[in-house]
Amino acid sequence: MTSPVQIAPAHGKLGVLLVGLGAVATTTIAGVCAIRKGLAPPIGSLTQMGTIRLGKRTEGRSPKINEFVPLADLNDIVFGGWDIFEEDCYAAARTAGVLENGQLDRVRGELEAIRPMPAVFDQRYVKRLHGPNVKKGKNKRDLAEQVITDIRAFKERHACDRLVMVWTGSTEVYMKEAPVHASVTTFERGLEQSDESIPSSMVYAYAALREGIPFANAAPNLTADVPAMLELAARTGAPVAGNDMKTGQTLIKTIIAPGLKARLLGVRGWYSTNILGNRDGEVLDDPESFKTKEESKKSALDYIFQPHLYPELYKDLCHVVRINYYPPRGDNKEGWDNIDLIGWLGYPMQLKINFLCRDSILAAPIVVDSALFLDLAKRAGMSGIQEWLSFYFKAPMHAREVYPEHDLFIQLMKLKNTLRHLQGEELITHLGREYYD
Ligand SMILES: NC(=O)c1ccc[n+]([C@@H]2O[C@H](COP(=O)([O-])OP(=O)(O)OC[C@H]3O[C@@H](n4cnc5c(N)ncnc54)[C@H](O)[C@@H]3O)[C@@H](O)[C@H]2O)c1
Repeated sequence: MTSPVQIAPAHGKLGVLLVGLGAVATTTIAGVCAIRKGLAPPIGSLTQMGTIRLGKRTEGRSPKINEFVPLADLNDIVFGGWDIFEEDCYAAARTAGVLENGQLDRVRGELEAIRPMPAVFDQRYVKRLHGPNVKKGKNKRDLAEQVITDIRAFKERHACDRLVMVWTGSTEVYMKEAPVHASVTTFERGLEQSDESIPSSMVYAYAALREGIPFANAAPNLTADVPAMLELAARTGAPVAGNDMKTGQTLIKTIIAPGLKARLLGVRGWYSTNILGNRDGEVLDDPESFKTKEESKKSALDYIFQPHLYPELYKDLCHVVRINYYPPRGDNKEGWDNIDLIGWLGYPMQLKINFLCRDSILAAPIVVDSALFLDLAKRAGMSGIQEWLSFYFKAPMHAREVYPEHDLFIQLMKLKNTLRHLQGEELITHLGREYYD
C-alpha cells in the first residue's frame, strides 16, 4: 500500500460544457436526465456501473468505482454548450433522431432549458455545415475571449463549483501540426492574426485550458493535441484527454485484434466499411473531414499488431476503412468487417463481423465517464495528458516518446490501476503466485 493522493472533494455542482449539441451531446444529456429520474439504467458507463477489485482475490473486496473514488454525482451535473444551430436541446435531440420521442418527452423540460450559446465556427473547417448561431469577432483571439466570457457567465449563472469541457462537435478537416502550434506564445500570436492553422475547435480548447478547465476531445480533430495546448494545460493545471471516442467499429476492432495477436494468428487484411446516415455521416462525406476520421480509425491496428516485432504475421497487412453516408439509416450505423487471417503453417481463415450498432448510444456513456474522470483528475492535481483515459479513445493522446496503447484490456487495467494508485491501494499485476506458494 502507498499513501493515497490528496483529492479535493466533489462538492457542489459540476458544469459540463459540450461544444456541439448534436446527436452525441443530446443523447448524453437526455440520458443523464432520464437516469437521474430513475427512468433508465446507465448501461455502458464504467463510472456508474463498474466495480474495481481491491487486494487479493480471496479478500472479496470489489466496491463500485463511484463508491471507491470521489466522483461528481449525476444529480450535481449542469449541462450547457454551444452550437451553430439555435434550436434547444429538445429540438436538437428530435432532429438527431437517436432516442424515441416518448423517452425525450419525459425529460423535455430539462432539455428545452438548454439553449446553445453562439458558436465559434468557420466553414473552412467543416465544409458541409452552415448555421446562423455564430459569433462575430475581429480575430480569433477576440473569439476566444468571447468563449471565456461565456464560460464564466455559465459558471456564475448556474453556481457551478467546477467545469469540464468536451468537444462533441463535428469532425473538422484534416490538419497537421503547424509552427503556430509550437508554444503558447506562437499560438496566441496566431490567434491575434487569425492564423488559418487554428480551427474553431482549438479556439474552444484554448479558452477552456486558459481557465484551467479539463478538456476532452470526442472527435478526431487535432484540437488539444499540440505542444501549445499542452504547455497551457501544464501552466493552468488542466487535464486533457482525446482523441475521438472509441465506439462502434473501432471498439470491436480493439477487442478482437488483441485476441488474435495474443494467439499469434497472422492478419493479411482487415476491410472495414460502414453505412451511416446522421449529420456526422454527412460531415464525413466530405473527403477532408473523412481523412481526419480515417487517420484516427486506422492507427489502432498498427499499434496493436506491432508489425516491426512480428513481421511474418502483420508486416503487409492491408487495412482499409470506408464510411458511406446513407441517410435511411440515421444514427443506426451498420459496420462490416472482413478479416483475412492466417494460422498454423500459413493456412488462411476468415472472420466476418456485422455490427448493427447505435453510434450515439455507444458514445453517450463515455462522454459522461470522461467528464467525470477528468473532473476527478483535476481535483487530484493531475494535469496534461491523461493516458489512463485512453480506454475511451480511438486515437489516444500520449507522450511523444511513447507509442499509444490501443489494446482495450491493457487500457482498462491502466485505468483501474490509476484509480487504485489514487486511493493508495495495491496495484494489481495479475501475477497471483501467492495463491499457490
Ligand atoms: N456518434 C459516435 O459514436 C461518435 C463516436 C466517435 C466520435 N464521434 C464524433 O463526435 C462528434 C459528434 O458526433 P455527432 O454524431 O454528435 O455529430 P452531429 O453532427 O450530430 O453533432 C455535431 C454538432 O456539432 C455542431 N458543431 C460543428 N462545429 C461546431 C462549432 N465550431 N461550434 C459549435 N458547434 C459546432 C454541429 O452543428 C452539430 O450540431 C463528431 O466529430 C463525430 O465524428 C462520434
